[in-house]
Amino acid sequence: MTEPKEFRLITKTLSGFEEILAEELSAIGARNINPLRRAVEWYGDKEMIYKVNYLSRLSLVTLKPIKDFPASNHDLLYDGVRSIDWVKYFDLKNTISVKASTYKSSLDHTQYIAQKTKDGIVDYFRDRFDERPDVDTYDADIQINVHLNEDYCEISMNSTGSPLFKRGYRQATGPAPLNEVLAAGMIQLSGWDKVSNFVDPMCGSGTLAIEAAMLAINLPAGYFREKYSFMNWLDFDAILWKKVKEAADSQLTDFDGMIFASDISPKYIEIASENIHFAKLHKDITLKQCDIANLKYPEGNGTIIINPPYGERIRTNDISELYKIIGDSLKFKAAGYNAWVISSDLEAIKLIGMRPMKRYNLFNGALECKYNGYSIYEGSKKDLYKA
Ligand SMILES: C[S@@+](CC[C@H](N)C(=O)[O-])C[C@H]1O[C@@H](n2cnc3c(N)ncnc32)[C@H](O)[C@@H]1O
Repeated sequence: MTEPKEFRLITKTLSGFEEILAEELSAIGARNINPLRRAVEWYGDKEMIYKVNYLSRLSLVTLKPIKDFPASNHDLLYDGVRSIDWVKYFDLKNTISVKASTYKSSLDHTQYIAQKTKDGIVDYFRDRFDERPDVDTYDADIQINVHLNEDYCEISMNSTGSPLFKRGYRQATGPAPLNEVLAAGMIQLSGWDKVSNFVDPMCGSGTLAIEAAMLAINLPAGYFREKYSFMNWLDFDAILWKKVKEAADSQLTDFDGMIFASDISPKYIEIASENIHFAKLHKDITLKQCDIANLKYPEGNGTIIINPPYGERIRTNDISELYKIIGDSLKFKAAGYNAWVISSDLEAIKLIGMRPMKRYNLFNGALECKYNGYSIYEGSKKDLYKA
């Protein structure tokens, strides 16, 4: 039986980005889109798998389900996996790895589920060829996902491999760098128009500025990345992949606005500069070492995004004082801008001292955060409202 041209796909993302990922996938060409929890289900063909992996700024990985079956115990899981015609998908010379997840299922030991699934694959090959693929837990050519949802098992091929936040431009990092997908989603949620100024006054390694610049000039999210798992699939179409890449790379545009990034630390400015230069975005991003207390925002208006220290992973002498300084800097010097602050410190974020026009709940790694948006107008400095 030949495979249908369009099939079901699952793209994973971070919590809070389901709706914006659905919009992004739709713009790329996905069909029958259905947001789920930390994922979006959609339909598309092989070309769309390549496009989404290359273009999507908000995806972590895209999974292609290949088989589902009931599996309330380990034997049913093993038998189901072993019955898949694996030679259709990959060559046994490839290394493999298996990742498991569960939701309300009788089997809930993810490591053992992954082990049983791997056994089923290995034994399938042994039966036929008297040989088995090697396992590589670090960076396998072929990555298989097994998900148990209430005793129903779905086996998927991970088309991406290592998650897409590994963009390939970050040469060095600061103390608490933002995940690139989180940074891209924060920019999307901020509503930045890609025309007006973009400012990150606590830029660390420069993630937000780099993601903003890539968005502004239409540089594909995967531009610096060399490897995707789908390249190791038996059905890999190198000509189609080249076509997808060339079409996307031909869409680059100029950006006439200003992307400005600063940080108090000379060391982090050096790190940001290294990353920005690696990405060849030094013409698009202005970098400056500056304490936010003394910062003069670029003339005009636009969007400011701040990822300050939270006092969790980084200790500063006085987190409360720092948040008051951030609030004052915005109220007194950034009229005309929209400003966004992400923090897991729910008390400190109130010290910004303005009423948020919008709030989102996001996770920075394991830290539950508020991502608050403020509209700064001339009268904001007189705004005595404490959020
Ligand atoms: C959580 S880190 C930002 C990480 C960054 N988003 C990234 O992806 O690498 C917070 C940054 O705030 C900077 N910072 C702390 N106090 C500052 C101040 N008063 N003015 C400007 N930057 C400050 C720190 O040097 C640090 O780089």
